[in-house]
Amino acid sequence: MAPRITVIGTGYLGATHAACMAELGFEVLGLDIDRDKLAALAAGRVPMFEPGLSELLLKHVAGHEGSTGRLRFTDSWEEVAAFGDVHFICVNTPQRKGEFAADMSYVDAAVDSLAPHLDRPVLVVGKSTVPVGSANRLAAKLAALAPAGEQVELAWNPEFLREGYAVGDTLHPDRLVVGVRSERAEQVLREVYAGPISDGVPFVVTDFPTAELVKAAANSFLATKISFINAMAEVCESAGADVVQLSKALSYDERIGGKFLNAGLGFGGGCLPKDIRAFMARAGELGADQALTFLREVDSINMRRRSRMVDLAREQCGGGFLGRRVAVLGAAFKPNSDDIRDSPALNVAGQIQLQGAQVTVYDPKAMDNARKMFPSLSYADSALEAVEGAHVVLHLTEWQEFRELDPAEVGAAVAERRLLDGRNVLDGDAWRAAGWTYRAMGRPYAE
Ligand code: UDX
Repeated sequence: MAPRITVIGTGYLGATHAACMAELGFEVLGLDIDRDKLAALAAGRVPMFEPGLSELLLKHVAGHEGSTGRLRFTDSWEEVAAFGDVHFICVNTPQRKGEFAADMSYVDAAVDSLAPHLDRPVLVVGKSTVPVGSANRLAAKLAALAPAGEQVELAWNPEFLREGYAVGDTLHPDRLVVGVRSERAEQVLREVYAGPISDGVPFVVTDFPTAELVKAAANSFLATKISFINAMAEVCESAGADVVQLSKALSYDERIGGKFLNAGLGFGGGCLPKDIRAFMARAGELGADQALTFLREVDSINMRRRSRMVDLAREQCGGGFLGRRVAVLGAAFKPNSDDIRDSPALNVAGQIQLQGAQVTVYDPKAMDNARKMFPSLSYADSALEAVEGAHVVLHLTEWQEFRELDPAEVGAAVAERRLLDGRNVLDGDAWRAAGWTYRAMGRPYAE
């Protein structure tokens, strides 16, 4: 019989994983301690903007007309333990306040709550992003706390999904990585992922620390690629060169590739910034901090992009922000997401406001979240409303909607036709032709 699956933690990762496991044909029980969240999910309401996830929930959550009924939610640990053969731990590991290190308290709390109910042989699978060495520690904890002792096994199966593509990335991942200690654990995971494996998804079987490190290394590499091209953008600005053309020319070298080489305002979000910091902190604990000092540079190059944008905006405002109106297009940390965690756009908006400008922000999806987090900024209901009377317009998150703006129409609403493109994706020639001063990061500047 197919294993029955539970998913512990129904945030971004967990909600997606639970729905996708049901899509793969399994009976799934999702657990969260937040009852409101469970009720919303059971009604097919997703607390974030994630294309396709709501539809997938409605397709599988029990009780909806025509649903498969394979997916249910609970807040009972007893029920989860009685139901599941494979328990996926999907709780988050945020950055600790005032420190670089990851906060493991949710993962530990999940194991502490689940283990005492595990009285038969089951597999617990960690998916959360954790400091290397955590799986070894948690395996010992599980064996000590579970009535079934050593028969409760742990596996580590990091998750690489991107926000905005979470469903597709889960059902059709680039690769599956599993850290296991026994053939039995490997076999169970092969069964769980039989669908993607038969579609040709590479299945990498390794030990615990390697599996944990694949995730930290992957995110570090991606962050490094972005900061590399942003470092080149800094040099381009000084040398009068064009980072967009540079990046394109680099991308034809297959060893380099073109992805994650878009220069601009840099990376944000709930993963890359915190994960590289947690990785540095962990390397320090392991005595390997020298190996990762370059990540400090990756982090500072990234943060420097934000101050650079503030400087460019001040310059465009004539040297000071007092009495100036600044329109900010974009609040989410990237397009197709309503996530504002460590958003470069809002960070820039906040800095500029602190320096005396009147800042109005518009984002197609992240307005509610932005309003809650940054209540002192002004918000508009459309891009055109946001730019009303602006002395400079900042394009900081590259939503498709902004690429489709008509430069003449926007030009009629602003006080001054000055545009700074923080993402290097707008058609500079079209904006210039409509009388705008268009300036992008890392590109030559022509009035
Ligand atoms: C990332 C990883 O891609 C994913 O594998 C991991 O599981 C979680 O972290 P995510 O945070 O959803 O996913 O965003 P991603 O699409 O990777 O973008 C990260 C940030 O980098 C965004 O702020 C984006 O704007 C920025 N970025 C990306 C660039 O500045 N330039 C690029 O070329 C690519």
